[in-house]
Amino acid sequence: METKSNHSSSSRWGILRDAFLAQSRSSSSSSSSSSQPEKKRISRTTTRAGGGGFNMIPCHRGFINGNRNVDDDDGDVYVSYTLPLNEAPTLVLRQRPENTVNLNDFHICNKYNIDNTGLVCHWPSEDVLAYFCLSHADMFRSKRILELGAGYGLAGLVIAASTDALEVVISDGNPQVVDYIQRNIQANSAAYAETMVKSMILHWNREDVSNISSTFDIIIASDCTFFKEFHEGLAQTVKCLLKHSEASEAIFLSPKRGNSLEKFLEKVREVGLHFNITENYDEKVWQLHQNFIIGEGSWPNYEVDHCYPLLDTLGSDFATVIEDTNKILQLCARRRRYRERMVLENMAVSECEDEHVNVLNESALRLNLDWSSTVEHSYSTCTKNKISNGS
Ligand SMILES: C[S@@+](CC[C@H](N)C(=O)[O-])C[C@H]1O[C@@H](n2cnc3c(N)ncnc32)[C@H](O)[C@@H]1O
Repeated sequence: METKSNHSSSSRWGILRDAFLAQSRSSSSSSSSSSQPEKKRISRTTTRAGGGGFNMIPCHRGFINGNRNVDDDDGDVYVSYTLPLNEAPTLVLRQRPENTVNLNDFHICNKYNIDNTGLVCHWPSEDVLAYFCLSHADMFRSKRILELGAGYGLAGLVIAASTDALEVVISDGNPQVVDYIQRNIQANSAAYAETMVKSMILHWNREDVSNISSTFDIIIASDCTFFKEFHEGLAQTVKCLLKHSEASEAIFLSPKRGNSLEKFLEKVREVGLHFNITENYDEKVWQLHQNFIIGEGSWPNYEVDHCYPLLDTLGSDFATVIEDTNKILQLCARRRRYRERMVLENMAVSECEDEHVNVLNESALRLNLDWSSTVEHSYSTCTKNKISNGS
């Protein structure tokens, strides 16, 4: 059955499609030599916000060590992301060149009542989400994770490659986007160790998700709250798919984009979930944001409303949502201090973390213990081990 919103988005895409066809016809009559008459670069209103980005995960076009540092035959490009970790692992993502649209996109958008923003570019919030996940890797240990509206799926892939998550499902409602996700999952499969990684077509208004209800410990999403027609579907999807029995939560990074975030959060409340919004959730991101506001840095036309992603934590239990947000912030500050201290003591961070900290951190979260005292305990255990090992 066609709903009002289905109808309005279909007609919107219908108009764009007609305009596109007209343009395609006129240019093929003036230039019969074009081998791909259907492929055009159309400037969309949804271009990457202001042409900048936070660049929290350094990237460049092409492979780093491979021999394919040129674009793919079908016009796709490869972008290499170097994770800011020891040994700097690299993920390579196949993407469309920014703002490239072809005729088939319109067909798919109409058929599935979806837009193609996931193909237009990798959006700045995804990069911040990926960095945020990397900085809170402990949260994901042994957990089932779902990314919604993932676009090219950088954040999901970063979790798969850098944390001990049990499973990462990277989803989107646009089947073309999911094709890219699937290819990118395969291309980086050597990086996942034990973590299972899958792609999934998951449209917030269309898919019957009852078979996977109450499955995920953590749901993540970036820049997915500006589609007002899908607000309710998105809120319901989160509610249905988050585990019902345990402390589970969704972590969204969303620019305000007018009143769209606010409207989405109204729906979140209506479906019976709680939320908490945090403006300053990472020192480095916040500093860049402050610099962009005063015109310093590399983001011309930085507009806070469209460019700065707020951290929204959603969950079924208000206390958990608030507590988890606080824990995230505390963990962030304490982990930094702890690392500094270990460096001063000339200890191997990875050794200590692998052996003690992650496990204790996890138990501290589960048992609701004070993290700092656990870290103190872990720190002295590490020191003792080091001494008894004679290292
Ligand atoms: C602005 S893009 C963000 C993509 C990616 N998270 C990023 O930040 O680069 C929004 C994404 O949501 C997806 N999307 C839009 N409406 C959707 C719906 N109803 N169900 C599922 N996915 C949807 C789009 O296909 C697109 O990939």
